[in-house]
Amino acid sequence: MADVFLYNTHLHITTWVVGIILFFVVLSLLKKSKEKPAKITHMVLRLFYIFIILTGALLWFSNYSHVGGSLFAESVVKSLAGVWLVAAMEMILVKVKKGKSTFLGWLQFILALILVLSLGFARLQLGILI
Ligand code: HEM
Repeated sequence: MADVFLYNTHLHITTWVVGIILFFVVLSLLKKSKEKPAKITHMVLRLFYIFIILTGALLWFSNYSHVGGSLFAESVVKSLAGVWLVAAMEMILVKVKKGKSTFLGWLQFILALILVLSLGFARLQLGILI
């Protein structure tokens, strides 16, 4: 059972897919000024940030911490881009709450998303069906 959680990408993919969906739910609740539901959903999203980072870190330690060369470098950039994406999502939500401009947050969101998806799916080796 432990192997499934340590080496399989399914759990990680589930956590970030749910996290990104929750992010857009909070965003639309905030836009509709539904403050209480937005606050609760945002709390759940923050819990998912932790799940995303934990499952990603588990994948990294169990598969990439001991490898060398470009694979190691790409896995580090992929992981940092993942943390960056989480930070960008949080930044956008806080700025929307305060009524400030979200342009820089979205710019970071898109850059981090491109890095994470291209490295995660196209370059790194684990794949979905392992
Ligand atoms: C919202 C944030 C994140 C997104 C959207 C994301 C996305 C992805 C994607 C698309 C994959 C490829 C899955 C596959 O090949 O089946 C992946 C794998 C991985 N992620 Fe993340 N990730 C995020 C956060 C993180 C974080 C925070 C870390 C590290 C702390 C991390 C570390 C990893 C590692 C080590 C892999 C395995 C790479 C592979 O061989 O495919 N991720 N992630």
